[in-house]
Amino acid sequence: MTTTNPRLPVTKAVVPAAGLGTRFLPATKATPKEMLPVVDKPAIQYVVEEAAAAGLSDILMVTGRNKRALEDHFDRAYELEELLSRKGDVDKLRRVRESVSLANMHYVRQGDPKGLGHAVLVAEQHVAGQPFAVLLGDDLIDPRDPLLSRMIEVQQELGGSVVALMEVDPAQIHLYGCAAVEANGFGPDVFHITDLVEKPERADAPSNYAVIGRYVLDPAVFEVLKKTEPGRGGEIQLTDALRTLATLSLAEGGQVHGVLFEGRRYDTGDRADYLRSIVRLASEREDLGPDFRSWLREFVSSEMQD
Ligand code: G1P
Repeated sequence: MTTTNPRLPVTKAVVPAAGLGTRFLPATKATPKEMLPVVDKPAIQYVVEEAAAAGLSDILMVTGRNKRALEDHFDRAYELEELLSRKGDVDKLRRVRESVSLANMHYVRQGDPKGLGHAVLVAEQHVAGQPFAVLLGDDLIDPRDPLLSRMIEVQQELGGSVVALMEVDPAQIHLYGCAAVEANGFGPDVFHITDLVEKPERADAPSNYAVIGRYVLDPAVFEVLKKTEPGRGGEIQLTDALRTLATLSLAEGGQVHGVLFEGRRYDTGDRADYLRSIVRLASEREDLGPDFRSWLREFVSSEMQD
């Protein structure tokens, strides 16, 4: 397929990180939920690594109160580095420095927490008229199953905005944005989206395609968000703005496509899923995995006997 209208490149990522993380209290009383460790790295570092791996070297975090630790994590830690280098602990020094050079980090505060749509709106000035990615920190995508680079490719070919879709059990659809889709001939994993609903009841869901936390958005989303009334939960919903974009023409910055993701996704936003994510990722680690897996086998078989 040839592109007649060269598109502006996608170089920036927006990472909303202003949520209060109340599901993890008291752990999140004084620590941002994005800093909770998944094995030995804070959840947010996986997300920044994913954006960087997709070529997005400019990352804007939309933060709120109590989020100083996020800025510190992606900055130098001179005293610690000095100590480790004096000890000659090269491995730990490398791990401490890893998060610093991933991307150019920027921060803006959301102010009133008025929902995901509002968090994205706060990025308007930084994004400055280019299509951009949004990555939600509760969804970790396994780096072996790249999703974001495919979404960027689809955006560059087709224009408009792109969301990530995953098939879920219909009993789970009320936890997600849900998309009505049509085939569009671009590839078996790409759909044209005709409608979107935020967290519908099972009976009202137009499909079992759930929107997961990766988006590539046309900057036209900002004007739409400004006019989007609070929706589900009294919050300004990104899904509602995308629903409007789906009805607009390409020339107006509209049209929404979905990329179907069938790879490994870890949900760290829910306590039980967070624990599962840690077990899965620890089991697969070269350094920790072998011992951890054999402990896990013994643990499970002893549980089965009870
Ligand atoms: C948000 C979005 C929802 C999407 C989900 C993906 O909801 O509003 O449309 O399906 O992320 O994780 P949240 O999980 O933040 O309530």
